[in-house]
Amino acid sequence: MKHPAKSVKKKPLKILFAASEAVPFVKTGGLGDVCGALPKILKKRGHDVRLVLPRYWAISHEQYGLKSVLGSMGVATGNGVLWCQVFEAQIDGFTVYFIEHEHYFGRAGLYDDGRWEFLDNPERFGFFARACIQLCQDLKFQPDIIHCHDWQTALIPPYLKIWESRNPFFQKTASVFSIHNIAYQGTFKADVYPFLALGSENFTDSKFENFGGVNFMKGAIFYADAVTTVSPSYAQEIMSEPGGNGLSVYIQRRQADLFGILNGADYDHWDPETDKLIPTTYSARDMSGKKKCKQALQKEFLLEEKDNVPIVGIVSRFAEQKGFQHLAIVMHSILRDMSVQFAIVGSGDKGQEDFFGGLPAYCGGRVGTWIGYNNHKAHLVEAGADFFLMPSLYEPCGLNQIYSMKYGTLPIVRATGGLRDTVAQYDEKTGSGTGFLFYDATPRAIYDTIGWAVSTFFDRPQHLAQMRKRAMLEHFSWLDSAKKYEEVYQKALQRRAAWS
Ligand code: ADP
Ligand code: GLC
Repeated sequence: MKHPAKSVKKKPLKILFAASEAVPFVKTGGLGDVCGALPKILKKRGHDVRLVLPRYWAISHEQYGLKSVLGSMGVATGNGVLWCQVFEAQIDGFTVYFIEHEHYFGRAGLYDDGRWEFLDNPERFGFFARACIQLCQDLKFQPDIIHCHDWQTALIPPYLKIWESRNPFFQKTASVFSIHNIAYQGTFKADVYPFLALGSENFTDSKFENFGGVNFMKGAIFYADAVTTVSPSYAQEIMSEPGGNGLSVYIQRRQADLFGILNGADYDHWDPETDKLIPTTYSARDMSGKKKCKQALQKEFLLEEKDNVPIVGIVSRFAEQKGFQHLAIVMHSILRDMSVQFAIVGSGDKGQEDFFGGLPAYCGGRVGTWIGYNNHKAHLVEAGADFFLMPSLYEPCGLNQIYSMKYGTLPIVRATGGLRDTVAQYDEKTGSGTGFLFYDATPRAIYDTIGWAVSTFFDRPQHLAQMRKRAMLEHFSWLDSAKKYEEVYQKALQRRAAWS
């Protein structure tokens, strides 16, 4: 179902989105989903939105019809001027610019080589931040707002204030910094600081200095005109420790300019009524297609092909944040005690890859695992599973629980961050709710809550059917979020005007 994005009443803004990933070009997680979807809806609302990304090796000139703009562009760094090329493409009605610098971005990985982070990440993304600012000037695109996302673009707000605040071109440009995950701050050794050219007077505890090194995100929290994060609960959590990952005190200082805005879902991509990646489409009115998707999932993941057993789906990065180390501890007990199957798609932590990847050999027919990144399989799991598990230790927003609700696949989630804000707890007495929440970050809580969901599948099927319908009717609209961002942009412009 499409929702018209009513156009904006206030004066349309010129907005530059600066990001390190965005669908459909490159994605390693939810950041890519958000940076593909939000510009699209803001554009539909009448703003002049443009997106800028690094031109990684994976983004092919031919596939996206990239056209050269500007010829060469010189970017000033602490090591002198570095030259790059700029390309553009049109997608979903808006312009995307690509900064091409073979040495920095002509690599298969975005941030790492699959095992180790690139050692020159601070130079790569410091350069990218300067390039985004230079791009505006060379294009004569004078943005009202530069909207930056996570540590990779965190130096843009500081550069605007430190280098450009007296530049008439940027006199009215405000910056908004969105924290998608405060655990990834962009912390590096201090020896990169001269290259970044942020000024020794700014190498202080309140700005960039952190345990003697440099912290990109800290600088953005100080300098951005407004700071946002991706759910109201997470905005609260990062104001104290451990949620703030050491930055809570700096976040508190910006409390008046901090906004928690829930992510939406891009239902152009994630809707069982229209999804082209699943075997059969279905809707809340006619769920017969979901049965076929379950059969296809069982086939694809080499699970026993039977309908009367629930499947728990998992699609995730295997990172400590996601909490699957706790599932690993109780996995054998769950399989021993419960009639349940698992369909798992994930990659990341090598120990977890080995553990979950090894399970099908021991529990053939009950656990199917795909190690790696696979969008097609991610859609199949969303559609074919009965439940979707996210036992996160923390979760700024989380998108998969939102997608899974739309597919009638009930989330089993830990009540943290955006998971708490999006999933309504099941009430066994009334049958209300859209999923199963637990509170303790322990293996036992995962065991108990999967048990609760499984017993609901067998003992209260009428509740399950009602919950599915209710979950499918939930709508996490980007339109609502976009309107809230518009308010934040106005507040940021006011802050910018007050900055001397
Ligand atoms: P995070 O950004 O912390 O990884 P989110 O829930 O916000 O978590 O978003 C994750 C996104 O990445 C979802 O769109 C999900 O489908 C996708 N994803 C994660 N792991 C995989 C994988 N192994 N294969 C395909 N898609 C994946
Ligand atoms: C981060 C968070 C995730 C969030 C995503 C998009 O990767 O871990 O919770 O949904 O960003 O904002």
